[in-house]
Amino acid sequence: MSEAQKKPKIVVEPTDESATAWVAELVKSVICQSVAQRGRCCWALAGGTTPRDLYQRLVDTVAEDEVPWPAVEIFFGDERDVPQDDVDSNYRMVQRTLLDHVPIAPDNVHPMRADAEDIQAAAAEYERTLRERVGDDPNETPRFDLVLLGMGGDGHTASLFPGCSETLEEQDKLVTAYHVPVLGRDRMTITFPLIAAARNVVMLVTGPDKAEAVDALLCDDEERRRSIPAGRVRVEEGTFTLVLDEDAARLLDG
Ligand code: 6PG
Repeated sequence: MSEAQKKPKIVVEPTDESATAWVAELVKSVICQSVAQRGRCCWALAGGTTPRDLYQRLVDTVAEDEVPWPAVEIFFGDERDVPQDDVDSNYRMVQRTLLDHVPIAPDNVHPMRADAEDIQAAAAEYERTLRERVGDDPNETPRFDLVLLGMGGDGHTASLFPGCSETLEEQDKLVTAYHVPVLGRDRMTITFPLIAAARNVVMLVTGPDKAEAVDALLCDDEERRRSIPAGRVRVEEGTFTLVLDEDAARLLDG
């Protein structure tokens, strides 16, 4: 992997709105290109609050015939251990901001069942589904056309949290579930090998509370960079773009 591949392409926009608009254009372009080239687009969505405005923008500003939504297959990068109708559910947020407004068939939407009685078994089942639906070759890591990530103020991404070394070091499973001590809750998440295989990875990070983590994410000190999970994101052959607003980028030089 070249040095160029290790570092993301960095885009700094003046505001969170313009950063979101920039990512919306990239998402549209990746979907259209993926469908034109391969007949479909497999997209792993981020949860949390930052991407809400992105999903809403895609609904509000994109003409239905502008994006081939019926050819998009939706997966999740992570999920909380709550029912799908819970206010904390990433699926519920995506359903209300995006899925209820675009023509994607229910069979093409794959929620993570992080509220399952046996969350480990549910994670293994999700991986089977993902390998079956996304993968072209059962012996290869499935390649998402697009993985959208956010980053917490502590540098977590998806549900890959600092200090959870077993999960952070996972190299075999593509989806895992574990108890997150800092949350006191279980989470299901995709792992770094799955992210690394993606054709396009976009990380959208906005707001002043993320500035310290952004500085660590982009620093030259490998130990400091790897101290935050987002700093461990590597994309082997695909593109990796980090989109920031000026508040999140305020500690960066220049
Ligand atoms: C989640 C997300 C998570 C998110 C970060 C940032 O389930 O919370 O998938 O990885 O991207 O926590 O969250 P905000 O966008 O809310 O700051």
